[in-house]
Amino acid sequence: MRRFILALAALFSAVLLQAAPARQDTLRILAIGNSFSQDAAEQYLWELFDAEEIPVIIGNLYIGGCSLERHWNNAEGDKADYQYRKIVDGVRTSTPGYTLEKGLADEPWDYVSLQQASGQSGLYASYEPYLKDLVKYVKAHVGKQTKLMWHQTWAYSQDAGHRDFPKYDRNQDKMYSAIMNASRKAMKDGRFRILIPSGTAIQNGRTSYLGDTFNRDGYHLERTYGRYTAACAWFETLSGQSVVGNAWHPDTIGPEIAGLCQEAAHAACLAPYRVTELAAYAGPAYKNPLAPEALRVEDLLSRMDLREKVMQLNQYTLGTNDNVNNIGDAVKKLAPELGSVIYFNEDPALRNAMQKKAMEESRLGIPLLFGYDVIHGFKTIYQISLGQACSWNPALVEQMCSLAAREARRSGVDWTFSPMIDVARDPRWGRVSEGYGEDPFANGIFGAASVHGYQGAGLTSLDAVASCLKHYVGYGASEAGRDYVYTEISRPTLWNTYLLPYRMSVEAGTHTLMSSFNDISGVPGSANRYTLTEVLRDMWGFDGLVVSDWNAVAQLIYQGYSADLREASAAALSAGVDMDMMSKGYDKHLEELVDSGEIPMEVVDEAVRRVLRVKFRLGLFENPYTPESAPSERFLLPDALETASELAAQSMVLLKNNGILPLQKVGKIAVVGPLADNGIDLLGNWKAHGNEADADRLLAGITREFAGKAEVRHAVGCDVDGKGDFSEAVALARWSDVVILCLGERYSWSGENTSRTSIALPEGQEALLAALKETGKPVVVTLTNGRPLELCRVEPLCDAILETWQPGVNGAGAAAGILSGRINPSGKLAITFPYVTGQIPIYYNRHKSGRRGTQGLYKDTTSDPLYPFGYGLSYTTFSYGDIRVVGNASLKEPFAVEVPVTNTGARDGMESVLWFVSDPFCSVVTRPEKELKCFEKRLIKAGETEVFRFEIDPLEDLGYMDGDGQQFVESGEFHILVGDKDLKLNLK
Ligand code: NOJ
Repeated sequence: MRRFILALAALFSAVLLQAAPARQDTLRILAIGNSFSQDAAEQYLWELFDAEEIPVIIGNLYIGGCSLERHWNNAEGDKADYQYRKIVDGVRTSTPGYTLEKGLADEPWDYVSLQQASGQSGLYASYEPYLKDLVKYVKAHVGKQTKLMWHQTWAYSQDAGHRDFPKYDRNQDKMYSAIMNASRKAMKDGRFRILIPSGTAIQNGRTSYLGDTFNRDGYHLERTYGRYTAACAWFETLSGQSVVGNAWHPDTIGPEIAGLCQEAAHAACLAPYRVTELAAYAGPAYKNPLAPEALRVEDLLSRMDLREKVMQLNQYTLGTNDNVNNIGDAVKKLAPELGSVIYFNEDPALRNAMQKKAMEESRLGIPLLFGYDVIHGFKTIYQISLGQACSWNPALVEQMCSLAAREARRSGVDWTFSPMIDVARDPRWGRVSEGYGEDPFANGIFGAASVHGYQGAGLTSLDAVASCLKHYVGYGASEAGRDYVYTEISRPTLWNTYLLPYRMSVEAGTHTLMSSFNDISGVPGSANRYTLTEVLRDMWGFDGLVVSDWNAVAQLIYQGYSADLREASAAALSAGVDMDMMSKGYDKHLEELVDSGEIPMEVVDEAVRRVLRVKFRLGLFENPYTPESAPSERFLLPDALETASELAAQSMVLLKNNGILPLQKVGKIAVVGPLADNGIDLLGNWKAHGNEADADRLLAGITREFAGKAEVRHAVGCDVDGKGDFSEAVALARWSDVVILCLGERYSWSGENTSRTSIALPEGQEALLAALKETGKPVVVTLTNGRPLELCRVEPLCDAILETWQPGVNGAGAAAGILSGRINPSGKLAITFPYVTGQIPIYYNRHKSGRRGTQGLYKDTTSDPLYPFGYGLSYTTFSYGDIRVVGNASLKEPFAVEVPVTNTGARDGMESVLWFVSDPFCSVVTRPEKELKCFEKRLIKAGETEVFRFEIDPLEDLGYMDGDGQQFVESGEFHILVGDKDLKLNLK
């Protein structure tokens, strides 16, 4: 049938009667219009002409929603109300303040179009009185060569909410017929020789599997294929040649949909007043974006054979090869039926080449899903997650994630393996840098904020990616801080500590999770039916997909759970791992497992459903490709850099200040240390596509900050490993008024597979500090690192310590701003800093000991941390008033508590108020000493008081979970703790 339509197209295009100008002349086309000519003629028309090497100049005299009546009034009154948009050589300009006369005189136009505002375009009476006069006016202002055309607009989508739709009884067919009748009359009365049948083209398109999806808000055209269809109608009308086969289409839609749009427009040019059914594009249901998701999934599933199903469940890699000439090779290696790739590239062109292969060479045209680790940024690298948590500002983290999503999606990534919400209490484990610290609730709040940020713009948007919660679950409990090892987690701890952030972030709407590497008390996370199916699918109702961590299915063998890859694959899939990242076990063994009856087809089907759902939700079937924009249009944009700076500023924690900070009245500053003139180590471990060259350095930030106020000089002292000759640095310190010593870790010392037995700085770095201290000059230490550090020897030797974490490309200015006092520090620790490594694990929400006083404490050193959870200094002071109960405090209904917080210092400052609860006696299972349940950060002006409120849902906020995940709350004594206040309540 498709071939038949193509043949017809060729035949009719030869006899098209409408204007066919000589090729070499530049066509000049002007619309006197509104947003409907904008949708049809401004977006893609120029490119369609360009593809055929027809030079064209396009103008649109634009006023949103402008009716013919208003155009006529504008003509009569010579009103300069028009935005004049013009496309010359593909360059688009827009100039306000045009009159009709000025626009008409701008070029010797070949064609000028008129149209009614679309809502009234089927109501001929609404424009009949102005039409003839307007035509006369236009003719009087253009040359003899100019031909006038009527632009037939389109009927609304059947669910349109537009105010004009009731005029057609909210009926699309009725509106379409009215537009046809009216345009017949307009053609006659206006003596137009040319009709542009955009309305019929859209109506034709609606008969295809794309259905009634050509509008984006009910009346404007959908941004890709909707606009493209209308543009095709213009092209064919004005070029005199068939649009079918035109090589150009928007790069987000594939050739199949582009072909459909061209056929729709071409059929409209042949029969401008009659709908042509696009029979070749009528089905199947899975291609119809209007069909309910479940129907699309089941329809597609029913068409897939076992091999095609199995292929959807595998993820391999694409990339590392950024030579465009080798793109073909990279793509050749992967099967077109593959489910997903990890996309190690930032160029949409490679994605598009691979996607083209999936769309065109697989039997069913199922798009690939492109995943990548966008953890704290894609190209604009932000503060690491652990640092972000110290900002206590989830809204800012959400904003950061949405900006990271924009960079990623526009570079060809649909899906990020983030956020990591593994509660981590052992800083020897390098992956503490990747999560939001030691508290379950904080991980849940920041996890949910990240999900909203990544997915917020709507998964079909070019500004959004699907999020992936990881690593499900309990990975942070790795024994002795060693990566990938066993975790011993009791059921109550699993529920209250490790599952809580997942429950909160699943509720926030994530579409995917990643199963973890760790063995959870004997059943590895990637084969754990309890967590993956009973909890996630059955209790929480999660219907998205679970991908394994890298090679985690194969690792079941090393973990001693499965004897070989075949068994491991069966175990993982049956437990609820839908997609196998890189083990190749599903690829190799699932077919035989199904054929032998060991795995029921239904288990495979369920996993495939989950993968397909996410692809449908991302809109990949309709828009499989990524527009190939220039890097400068996506990367390091001003709003991203601004957010990077703000997040860095709010997340840095002032750990010590004996009054030296903010630095004022200092004339000579010595900036010393391995992290001072260092870009790469500020980027952090998951630096994605971040470049060292894009990273602002502490030395540069400090030099800018104090320009004109102090002389800044630099000496390195030692490298990050602590090696070097200190003499130059010591001499510089002697010259200076103050030393800023920039210490810390390499970016590669934290993150995956970076466990350490000691969390101290290298000895050489500490020795450099000691040598500088000996000069007698004040020393301010900045720390740049991905985990809490052992600072018991550093702290006594310096006057101030600023923890900057790994603040990303634009954090240096924030650090310098805090040192100078331009920025008042507001970060507070989301993870405990032990006094010495040997105290680990040490965290605030520990369970209580059976002995009090000095019993059970360490005999060789303090049992207290150096800096506890929630600690952080400001340049102002805050005082907490008494906690007040609002409403009736009971366990039966919600109530609230409030606390007034006063800024008692001399400057404005932001305070993060952390609310804890404590249930001192619990007969079901003992509870931690205190548990964070609410937090909020606000600016409090100097001398002013802000009242903070904690809305308490008794079961959620005062309750706990038993080993089966059932929430309970026991009546009796509770404490609400905030700042230095402790309110005791007896609740029933
Ligand atoms: C392994 C890591 O554990 C995980 O966090 C990451 O998302 C995958 N590799 C993919 O890179």
